Amino acid sequence: MKKIAICLASVLLAGAALSFSGCGEDKKLWQHYKDYFKIGCTMNYGTQDIFDDIAGEFNSMTCENEMKWVALQPNEGQYNYTSADNMVSFAKEHGMSVRGHCLAWHNPLALPGWVFSVEGEDGKPAVASYDKVKERLVTHATEVVTHFGDDIYAWDVWNEVITDNYTEDDTDLYRLDSQWHTVAGLSGALSPDERNAVNDKIEDLFIATFDAARKANPDAKLFYNDYFANNQFKAQKLLTVLDRLLEKGCEIDGVGIQAHYDITSFDWEMLENLIVQISARGLEVQITEIDFSMYDYNGDIALYYHEFTEDMAQLQASCFGKAFEIFRKHKDKITCVTQWGVADDDSYLHKIPVAGRQDWPYLFDEYHAKKPAYYAVIDF
Ligand code: GLA
Repeated sequence: MKKIAICLASVLLAGAALSFSGCGEDKKLWQHYKDYFKIGCTMNYGTQDIFDDIAGEFNSMTCENEMKWVALQPNEGQYNYTSADNMVSFAKEHGMSVRGHCLAWHNPLALPGWVFSVEGEDGKPAVASYDKVKERLVTHATEVVTHFGDDIYAWDVWNEVITDNYTEDDTDLYRLDSQWHTVAGLSGALSPDERNAVNDKIEDLFIATFDAARKANPDAKLFYNDYFANNQFKAQKLLTVLDRLLEKGCEIDGVGIQAHYDITSFDWEMLENLIVQISARGLEVQITEIDFSMYDYNGDIALYYHEFTEDMAQLQASCFGKAFEIFRKHKDKITCVTQWGVADDDSYLHKIPVAGRQDWPYLFDEYHAKKPAYYAVIDF
């Protein structure tokens, strides 16, 4: 694994020179990248207005939560588009196109319980069948993609289906903690042959959703989205899944690499390799959720920093700088790079994985000033 070399002096000098001379100050971030790819950010309903001053830096926007299943269809057949529509209008007013995120995700925070439940013969709730769940999935995808129509240029159709298991068994592809997979018959007790048969049923669910989205909006690009940070096994499993889906004629256009990283363990070689491997399959790449936290996500949850030090700022700048250097090198493969947030005053990382822990993951600080990372990203 080749991790990033910390080159404090060069980033510091580059940042200082750019701020001092004012060079690049007038151009927005997306303008620096107009010959490369779109530059996106994520926003939330209710807090988008606090970013009025810097929204113009971006030309793509993703709603953090407002287009997830539980927000759009909290009860069967009861669609609620108020917040999402409001955010689409905000994006348009600020010159941003909109990415749709996401039609299907197993996470209970995003998925209402009714999807897997029916009324039993005795009038009590019973577990819904695979066919019923599939029908609901197709209905949701059709309804939602139709509603937003041309306002959305790309959809994350499925989010995070691949297992985090470190095994080399290439039938062990899909996560066990997903009700979508359980309803298709997946369990930890299956033999590889049994698992293969279940994998086909799981993939039928994916393919049906991609089909529905394609029919509802033939112009939107359709993505599979997942995190792969520093997990070589997961990256390998992705390639196996893509090969299986493509062989079955799945209407997939590309892969979203979330890219939630931290400043201590950025494996840029793996990231670059993944971009190349996805593209070799004829698929587009988008970086959908990039940030560089100060903390290792699965590390010591007792760790708490009280301030964003100069060393952190420079290390983060070198990480962002290296990542964008790779993205520029592969501009023929990448169509959008989205930061998962806007500025350090509002971030999911202040809540997850440790509630109330301060983090500084973005290009703009809590006062919306450009950080050294910003200058590293435009230094080319
Ligand atoms: C994943 C999801 C996002 C978001 C983040 C945490 O990356 O794709 O929608 O929920 O987790 O905020």
